[in-house]
Amino acid sequence: MTEYRFIVVNTDGEIGFITLNRPEVLNALNRTMVTEIVTAMEEFDRNNNIKAIVLSGSGRAFAAGADINEMADDDPIRLELLNQFHFWDRMGAIKKPVIGAVHGFALGGGFELALCCDLLFAAENANFGFPEISLGVMPGAGGTQRLTKLMGKTKALEWLWLGEPMSAKEALQYGVVNRLVAPEVLMEETTRFARKLAKKAPLSLRLIKESVLKAVDVPLLEGMQFERKNFYLLFASRDQKEGMNAFIEKRQANFEGR
Ligand code: CAA
Repeated sequence: MTEYRFIVVNTDGEIGFITLNRPEVLNALNRTMVTEIVTAMEEFDRNNNIKAIVLSGSGRAFAAGADINEMADDDPIRLELLNQFHFWDRMGAIKKPVIGAVHGFALGGGFELALCCDLLFAAENANFGFPEISLGVMPGAGGTQRLTKLMGKTKALEWLWLGEPMSAKEALQYGVVNRLVAPEVLMEETTRFARKLAKKAPLSLRLIKESVLKAVDVPLLEGMQFERKNFYLLFASRDQKEGMNAFIEKRQANFEGR
């Protein structure tokens, strides 16, 4: 397995865990850390034993944003040449379910990282926000796009313009997170949900994710055609035969992801 400096990677059964691990700076995301997160996600994505990925933060935060010290002296040409957002695009291309377990601060790039997850479990003390406006910048890793698609233009603008934090309760209310749980059971509840997903037919999980992500971007008819192709494709899988035979034979299906 790859050696990492700023994250901890481990597995438990069919679940892959990635833990942001710079607690002394509230897991501020430096560039190496972002490449490590993507590398670990892609390794799990390729690993047939792993069915779902859980992303969380160590210490008292999920992540308090991009590392401000690292980018304070940046200029546009350096940013263009670094092409850092290419790594963020790769996060969005992970095929397996990615569940974020968020406690404490999820700010700026940390919120954007959370928004890259497919589902979010939040501790009651979670605190989401885009404080970039106070730094004289704006989100650049998908924040304005993903937040708007989740909660609509008017609410997204309010949060992005004011830069004020959104409580976990508000995040739940606006559909940004799936579940709110007590901080002490955040990992347990998230892992329990991930294990539930791990029991499902892997190819169905994968193509459902692909189809739902498509729905966010394309007109309805185009999305329906995309869905239909994926539906047909699943009839080429052994798991479709297994799932339907198991129903007819009144037994539990044994999915292989093939
Ligand atoms: N970058 C670098 N260091 C950070 C950081 C960040 N984003 N966030 C926190 N830290 C560091 C602090 O500098 C501090 O380090 P020292 O102990 O060496 O001083 C340490 O983490 C602990 O932080 P605080 O003492 O400030 O903790 P607090 O509880 O008093 O405050 C906080 C917590 C409100 C989150 C505050 O740390 C804060 O405002 N952080 C910055 C949040 C922010 O602006 N994030 C957006 C970054 S820009 C971005 O993400 C752009 C993008 O889209 C790509």
